[in-house]
Amino acid sequence: MTRWLVTGAGGMLGTDLVAALTSRGEPVTGLDRAGLDVTDAAAVAGAVAGRQPDVVVNCAAWTAVDDAEASQEQALAVNAGGAANLAAACAALGSRLVQISTDYVFAGDAGRPYAEDDVPAPRTAYGRTKLAGERAVLDRLPGSAYVVRTAWLYGAHGPNFVRTMIKLADQRPAVDVVDDQHGQPTWTADVAAQIIALAHSAAPPGIYHATSSGQTTWSGLAREIFGLLGADPARVRPVPSSALLRPAPRPAYSVLGHDAWAGTQGPGVQPIGDWRAALHRAFPDLVAAQRPDKRQGAAAG
Ligand SMILES: NC(=O)c1ccc[n+]([C@@H]2O[C@H](COP(=O)([O-])OP(=O)(O)OC[C@H]3O[C@@H](n4cnc5c(N)ncnc54)[C@H](OP(=O)(O)O)[C@@H]3O)[C@@H](O)[C@H]2O)c1
Repeated sequence: MTRWLVTGAGGMLGTDLVAALTSRGEPVTGLDRAGLDVTDAAAVAGAVAGRQPDVVVNCAAWTAVDDAEASQEQALAVNAGGAANLAAACAALGSRLVQISTDYVFAGDAGRPYAEDDVPAPRTAYGRTKLAGERAVLDRLPGSAYVVRTAWLYGAHGPNFVRTMIKLADQRPAVDVVDDQHGQPTWTADVAAQIIALAHSAAPPGIYHATSSGQTTWSGLAREIFGLLGADPARVRPVPSSALLRPAPRPAYSVLGHDAWAGTQGPGVQPIGDWRAALHRAFPDLVAAQRPDKRQGAAAG
């Protein structure tokens, strides 16, 4: 039986990962930020040594992309320092470590999906700190670390684009959504399942991309969401990124390739599949999370 320790367990991905492990009957300790601050090296060493996990999954991160521009040192402390602390603790105990990372390590200007071994070139403070986290883990644990890059995440347990669009469809006659950034909308529950399958497989250590296949734009995703709600997709008005300037530039092209999975063996290590099919599977959970009152009303009715 594999023993798991999940950090950042109060976040969107961490919540779904702990739930997925629990539902599979796998022994898991989920520690949210109050339970374990990953920047505290002594606390990290104590938490890992005390629980003796076979696998640690680091879902803790500074994820405020715009705020990281003005607070890069603080973001670095979490995204690189926290990862390094966990890697050191895992090295001392012989545990494997799964470090969650991001498409933001790339420049976002490619014309084909980014391969796992493409050269990173982050253009934001967030991306630089996450890349430093990848390197901290791979340098300290070359034989027993996985870096799992994901992107465009949505889930029931945190703020995200899909939940925002469900809310705005209820509130506004029309929404402006950028139509010149390309990516792969990805459900946290699918990433959780891939992390579990990866850890149970004989996959070699290294970098893996855990995103849906296919690609769309944010406005393409919004139109799909409106359609699923029975709302008119034409209420989504495509706009260029230049209309919505933000402190951190968003990658124009965030599509990740999945070739590393082809080299893995073991049950359940499958590509996540098409982003639209994943959204359809996830949608009832997302609507229930975003509209709890309506869900209660429906249940009562
Ligand atoms: N969301 C996306 O679209 C996306 C895309 C690509 C990659 N990722 C990566 O996926 C992973 C999970 O992200 P997510 O979407 O689940 O983000 P999230 O909901 O923001 O979860 C991150 C969690 O880390 C916690 N945390 C922050 N600082 C910490 C510290 N010093 N010690 C311990 N915990 C700390 C946060 O707690 P507080 O809330 O209390 O600060 C939060 O619960 C991250 O590595 C992220 O970089 C996410």
